[in-house]
Parts: sequence; C-alpha cells; structure tokens
Amino acid sequence: MAKIKITETVLRDSHQSLAATRMTTEQMVPILKALDNVGYHALEAWGGATFDSCLRFLNEDPWERLRTIRKNVKNTKLQMLFRGQNILGYRHYSDDVVQYFVQKSIANGIDIIRVFDALNDVRNLKTAIKATKKEKGHLQAALSYTTSPVHNNEFFADLACQLADMGADSICIKDMAGLLKPYDAYELVKTIKEKCNLPLELHTHYTTGLASMTILKAVEAGVDIIDTAIAPFAMGTSQPPTEPIVATLAGTPYDTGLDLDKLDVVSKYFTNLRNEYLASGLIDPAVLKVDVNALRYQVPGGMLSNLVSQLKQANQSDKLLEVLEEVPRVRADAGYPPLVTPTSQIVGTQAVLNVTLGERYKMVTKEFKGVVKGEYGKTPAPIAPEFIEKILGDEKPITTRPADALAPEMANLKKACAEYAIQDEDVLSYALFEQVAVKYFKHRKEELAEKEADAKALFVTKVEEE
Ligand code: CO
Repeated sequence: MAKIKITETVLRDSHQSLAATRMTTEQMVPILKALDNVGYHALEAWGGATFDSCLRFLNEDPWERLRTIRKNVKNTKLQMLFRGQNILGYRHYSDDVVQYFVQKSIANGIDIIRVFDALNDVRNLKTAIKATKKEKGHLQAALSYTTSPVHNNEFFADLACQLADMGADSICIKDMAGLLKPYDAYELVKTIKEKCNLPLELHTHYTTGLASMTILKAVEAGVDIIDTAIAPFAMGTSQPPTEPIVATLAGTPYDTGLDLDKLDVVSKYFTNLRNEYLASGLIDPAVLKVDVNALRYQVPGGMLSNLVSQLKQANQSDKLLEVLEEVPRVRADAGYPPLVTPTSQIVGTQAVLNVTLGERYKMVTKEFKGVVKGEYGKTPAPIAPEFIEKILGDEKPITTRPADALAPEMANLKKACAEYAIQDEDVLSYALFEQVAVKYFKHRKEELAEKEADAKALFVTKVEEE
C-alpha cells in the first residue's frame, strides 16, 4: 500500500488559526532548512490570510517572503491556498488579475496551488485551474466541506469528478471548521476514491477534538495526503499534530517515512516561538481548547472570534449564544453556503445584525445581499423565491458566472499604482488590498530611503577616515 504523505501547515494555516497570521518571515527563516530536511510532501507556506497580514500588520512584502522561503527550501514542494476568483482578497477579481496572480505565484516559487470556492461553484475555479495548468503548476482543487440537507458523500464525489474533468491534479477535502467526524470521513473518502481516481488530501482542524481520529479513519479509507502541524503549533483551532500521527503510522502499511528525530528539531524551535507568542498574548489560550459545540453551529474558529468582537463593539456580548443559534438559520435562508472566507464573515455579520437589532433582516449588509443575488456564485441549495424578494426587492438575481460581468482590470491597476511599483508583483498586492498596499509601499519607500542615507553616511565616514 502506498505510503501516506504529509503536508506541514506551520508556515500558513497553523499560525493563521492560532496566532492571527502574525508569524514573520524573520521568525521562519532560521528553521526553513530543517523543515526542508524532514522530507514532507509539501510545506503549506503562503496564501490564505498571510498575504493580507504581511502588508497590513507586518510591514512585509509577501512576494519577498515567498522568494525567501523558496531560497531556503530547495527540496520540498511549496503550497499555497488560493480562494478561486477571490484570489487572496475578499471580492471577485477579473480573469486577467487571477491569471497574472497565478503566473507570478508560480514564478516566485509556488509548486502546488490549492484552490477553493466558498460556495463550491466550479465556475469560480475555472480561471485559476486553467492558469495553473498553463504555468505548469500542480492544481489541487479543494471541496469546501460542510453538512446540510444538500451536502452528502455523493454530492462531494460528483464535485470531485467535475473538478478532475476540469484539469485538477489532485483533490482536497477542506474541512475548515473541524466538522468531519471519523466514521463520516471513512465513508466520504471511500466514496470519492471510488468515483475519482486522483490523489486525495484531507485538510481538517482540531477545533472539535476529532481531527486526529478523523485522519486515522481517512487513512484507512485510502486518503493519500494529510495536513498536519508540528505539535507546538497544532491542536485547538489549528491542525492535528504531526508527530503523533507519524508515530501512529510508523511500521504500518501507511508509514509516512518521516523521522521523529528530524521532526524534534523543528518541534523544539517552534516550542520556543509558541512560548513567546503565549507570553505576548499573540496566542490566546482560548484558541487552544477543544469545543465540540462547533459541530452544532458549524462556526470555524476565526469566525467565532469575529462574532465575539462584533458583539463587544455593539455592547451586546451577552448575546453570543443567540447569535450562534441564528447562524444556522441565516445559512439555511441563504441556500446552505459552507462557512469559509468570505461566506463565514458574511453569514456571521448578518446573524449579528439580526440579533442585535432585534428583528431579522431589518438591516441587510451589501455582502449578504450579494450572496442572495448570486454575485458570489450559485448557492448549494436554491434560495426560496420569497426570501430573494424580501432581500432584493425589485432587483433580479444573477445566474451567470460572476466574473463574466467583470471587465479586464490589469491595465487600470498598473496605471493606478505606477508611482509606487518597484517590481512587477506590486500591482497584484495593490489589486488585492489597495489602501493597505499603498500604506505598505510608502513605508517601504521610507525604509529604502533610510537605508540609502545610511549607506551614504557610511561611505562619507569611510572616505573621511581615508
Ligand atoms: Co484550514
């Protein structure tokens, strides 16, 4: 039997889930060679929220981070998470932006692009899939896992087949909230593997405390690759820990072939970093616990903390339970979207409004209206006509691929950021996070000017000395 391959998430999802995506490149660099030395199938190292966080909070160029990681990781594949037509942002971008982003991601060092769409609307993945194939990258198509009256094993197996036909090289079950239970995983993996012959990867979170068991059953059912995080950055809202799974599978037909001593080097390094993060408050002990209630509310970890802070702002922190009960109702009204960025924020915010204003849909966000209108794609279940009318009024829903309505954007974007750009990739940072990117570009300019001034001063001193 084939060996089980491991994708390590410590450089991306793990700190995104536990530490608000704040791990800096500087904190990664000292351990990159050791990570490369482990023999993982891949390192998930880029994309998701890391791009936004680099620009917004860390004053870092995300592209420079990618190049730095690539320079230090020579043998292991680098993987990124890509939100289909949303790329790494929060709206739909035109096809030319998606294509250019894929091109530059691969040119700067990405091997595997994992794409997903929050609604599982394959039309939103089409451009990213095509572009990745064109650039000779490995395209992994992810199924956003959720449970609902319309989501069952056949649904996901059919979706996997569709994505295989569209050109996917592998399939991922993306269980962002840790909802997939061990025996359900067994059946799901079996059903998908029977219908679709591509390598299958399982991505889950430890939130509900099920993840290690779920992985074990998925392995027995024939999954090929699993996502784990090195122990100090595992569990809680992060991935299940790498080392116990490596130890569990060692000597069985599912052996990962990884060496616990090599993993220990990585583990020691990240134990120190974890302690730093705990001391500074960057890791809140609250995210480290296990909470099986997520099974009931289907709320991913990041979404839960958003709900808490929105309620705090509204001075209604005591309403959390009501909001958690409102979330599944809003989700049902909106055609059962899986709760993942951006639908998790959209459904969550609407649930908060419904509860805090004391009347359901008294106020409707632009984004929620967009979901009902079809601006994000086709919802898994059709939305009731009465509800569409209640939310949209006279406006008519959209049934075409959302990006078909978008004119090419690249030319205008290039013009708009020309004064700041010092590399081709800057236009993409600008496309995704306009003002945030400009703020970073200005900071970078000042930094470069300072460096130049320092260099000049040094030169003058030297000349004087001579
Ligand atoms: Co995840």
